[in-house]
Amino acid sequence: MVEINVCIGSACHLKGSYDVIKKLQSIIDEKKLGDEVLVKAAFCLGDCMKAVAVKINKDEKIFSLNIKNTDEYFNEYIQKKVNQC
Ligand code: FES
Repeated sequence: MVEINVCIGSACHLKGSYDVIKKLQSIIDEKKLGDEVLVKAAFCLGDCMKAVAVKINKDEKIFSLNIKNTDEYFNEYIQKKVNQC
């Protein structure tokens, strides 16, 4: 299971956390990956400059997402992790 933690802290909320969550969820539904990928809301990930801040599983690396780069992020990072599982 790949867990995507999307920050919903105040800085990220203002930059559109919920839009990013909705977008991720729609990609997951579209690709029928609901059993393999889980989107979770997280509290401040400590890197507010990257709002909307997103982390995969317990990885240290924080990605900065917005509505426009979410598809690319999914294909580049999440899809690869799913394929490794
Ligand atoms: S509010 Fe999102 S990383 Fe701090």
